[in-house]
Amino acid sequence: MSAYLMDLTNLLLRWLHVIAAIAWVGESIYFVMLDNSLKKPQAEADRSKGVAGEMWAVHGGGFYHNQKYQTSPEKLPDDLHWSFWKSYTTWLSGFALFCAMYLSNPAMNLVNPSAGWAWAAKMSSGEAVFMALLFLFGGWLVYNRLCKLISPNMTRDGLLSVAVAVMMVAVSFLATHIFAGKAAFLIIGAVMATCMSANVFFWIIPGQRRMVAAMKAGEAPNPLDGKRGKQRSVHNTYFTLPVVFLMLSNHYAVTYGAEWSWLIAVLFIFAGAAIRQFFVVMHQGKKQYGYWAFGIVCLLLAALLAAPKKPAESPGATEGSPAVSIEQVLAISQQRCAVCHAAQPDRQFGFAAPPLGMKLETAEEIRMAADKFKQRVANHTMPIGNLTGMTEEERALIARWQP
Ligand code: HEC
Repeated sequence: MSAYLMDLTNLLLRWLHVIAAIAWVGESIYFVMLDNSLKKPQAEADRSKGVAGEMWAVHGGGFYHNQKYQTSPEKLPDDLHWSFWKSYTTWLSGFALFCAMYLSNPAMNLVNPSAGWAWAAKMSSGEAVFMALLFLFGGWLVYNRLCKLISPNMTRDGLLSVAVAVMMVAVSFLATHIFAGKAAFLIIGAVMATCMSANVFFWIIPGQRRMVAAMKAGEAPNPLDGKRGKQRSVHNTYFTLPVVFLMLSNHYAVTYGAEWSWLIAVLFIFAGAAIRQFFVVMHQGKKQYGYWAFGIVCLLLAALLAAPKKPAESPGATEGSPAVSIEQVLAISQQRCAVCHAAQPDRQFGFAAPPLGMKLETAEEIRMAADKFKQRVANHTMPIGNLTGMTEEERALIARWQP
């Protein structure tokens, strides 16, 4: 029953999270597009009102006319539309999901028992949870400090972008060396996503509140508030594509399970940011395909790094070794895999149904899943958290097995 309730909670939270994220990211992409597409207003009356740019659009059977004011309109309407709940809902539901899936079971989902760094492989559950939270909140503190140190007046934003990129390379390297692959990729994405929401919460919205308060008091708003809001929302726009990739990556063990997973994460982050840049520039009326080219080169490199190794390179595969039989594989699977991958999984692991519907109890089931079976054993992403204690000898045997 509790496994069932966990599954249900997970599903409902995920549904909410994805919908909130679609709404937030959609709105954010829309406003960046709007801002970059503004043209000088045609009517003199608009220009003298202080309108600096406008965009006409047709959508859903109606015509829309957006106008952006240089500083502020003469009178602010009372029903000003604010955007923040989509962002907060995305972060809160994402964090709840992270707690329900990862933090609630660190031994299974956070710790990588075959991590290269011995201390990481031996982390206790408490240490693993502490580390994960440190990444999320520490990531924001470092990023925020970088912004304040390097470009406090928004005059060195180029240099700041380089620093943020370097920070993300470091986060990727550390996370993939400390946590289990799947969790590592998720945490890298969550570091960026936390920065995005915190940008909205700590800077963009308070800055806008100060601006509105100043206008209502008949004073000129502090231009730094506007510029900082812009700086942080520009960062958010470059984070979006990488974050969405990292959130989806948990379905693809070829990425997070690869030997060079940290570099794969970095390449996807760079590709996502470059492709986003193409669209930002496109809305300003320029088409710079160089960004696409750079993005595609990054993706190709990532694909090369993720490609499975030839069987000859697998450990233990020597010329004269006898062929591995399906009975040997079945015996290993029954001991190491079928506790979870069964029609009725073993209670202790807390699954209500076989994970992803995959059963590995009979020779036939194993044969049908042979490719994935070999892949996940070879890249150490299964048994998850190596909770069933699969040995290196068993992995070598599976690598030699030719279904
Ligand atoms: C403690 C429980 C557990 C054990 C033991 C376990 N798995 Fe899994 N397995 C999971 C979970 C949870 C998932 C889904 C999440 C994921 O893909 O990481 C999964 C997913 C998979 C998938 C991906 C299926 C797909 O459709 O993409 C394969 C393949 C797999 N396991 C193979 C194995 C093999 C082979 C073993 C034994 C060597 C094994 N598992 C042992 C829990 C387990």
